[in-house]
Amino acid sequence: VVRGFSSSAVRNVVIKNVTIIGGGQMGAGIAQVAASTGHSVTLVDTSDDILKKSIKTIEGSLKRVVKKKFADKPEAGEEFIKKVVQNVSTSTDVESAVQSSDLVVEAIVENLKIKQDLFTLPQHTIFASNTSSLSISDIASSTSRQDRFGGLHFFNPVPMMKLVEVIGTPATSQETLDSLLNFSKVLRKTPVSCKDTFGFVVNRLLVPCIMEAIRLYERGDASKEDIDIAMKLGAGHPMGPLELADYIGLDIINSDPNNPLFNSSDLLNKLVAEGKLGRKTGEGFFKY
Ligand code: 3HC
Repeated sequence: VVRGFSSSAVRNVVIKNVTIIGGGQMGAGIAQVAASTGHSVTLVDTSDDILKKSIKTIEGSLKRVVKKKFADKPEAGEEFIKKVVQNVSTSTDVESAVQSSDLVVEAIVENLKIKQDLFTLPQHTIFASNTSSLSISDIASSTSRQDRFGGLHFFNPVPMMKLVEVIGTPATSQETLDSLLNFSKVLRKTPVSCKDTFGFVVNRLLVPCIMEAIRLYERGDASKEDIDIAMKLGAGHPMGPLELADYIGLDIINSDPNNPLFNSSDLLNKLVAEGKLGRKTGEGFFKY
């Protein structure tokens, strides 16, 4: 019995087979934690090359995990990596990949049209989106199974960050929410519940902080280095806001012209236009 199981647990879908759509940073991270906790994972993307890269990312991250977890038993660490990687299969055929799936987690580009272009899922399968900027209701609206549709929002780097935001729309069933909350716990994460509201909890608070840091720097009020040092040493953040922006990816930071807290900045737009997207491209606010 998993700790924290609610009384409605008997109705929960038992999640064993998980399909992750999207082999990028987030998708690979979600695949890794699901495989590490004994799930059978199918990772789906559009090409074998992308999927090979995803597996490399997973192996690289697992090596860092076992270096600590199995510090005095390197052989057991190797064995663990092998087992986890064996739990992950890859596919470029989404239709067949979802057929035996209990849970499909979508972690692809933030494009509503692509996300709405869904497929036929088995009756019991839950569909969850890892979106950070789109409304879950809007994505779900193109399906006739909105009761089995929710948000499951992970944080980067997925293997390290302990939080998962579980998002329900007015149409999401209690059974689906319970299943997603329980799945998060089985992944050894801590779930929090939030309504389908812009930015959910974390990005609603984090993005305005990052945007204010960019504006401070843009106005020349402080150097980018000092802004980051200030928030690390003065607010106890593990990364400064500009380093974190580079880490997340400058193209991923959501703006909303209708909300002054989320207004974009000329500097941010310029960096994105130049392809300086942060760590993943070798340069953003800082060089890597
Ligand atoms: N996989 C496995 N282990 C990892 C890892 C990864 N991808 N990244 C870091 N680690 C572990 C390793 O054990 C590493 O030890 P190692 O150096 O021996 O490999 C250890 O973390 C320490 O890492 P570092 O020395 O590189 O750096 P830190 O001590 O600063 O820790 C961090 C790294 C955990 C990323 C920390 O800096 C942090 O928590 N930063 C803030 C991250 C954050 O805020 N994320 C949320 C972003 S918002 C988001 O994702 C929402 C989305 O919608 C945009």
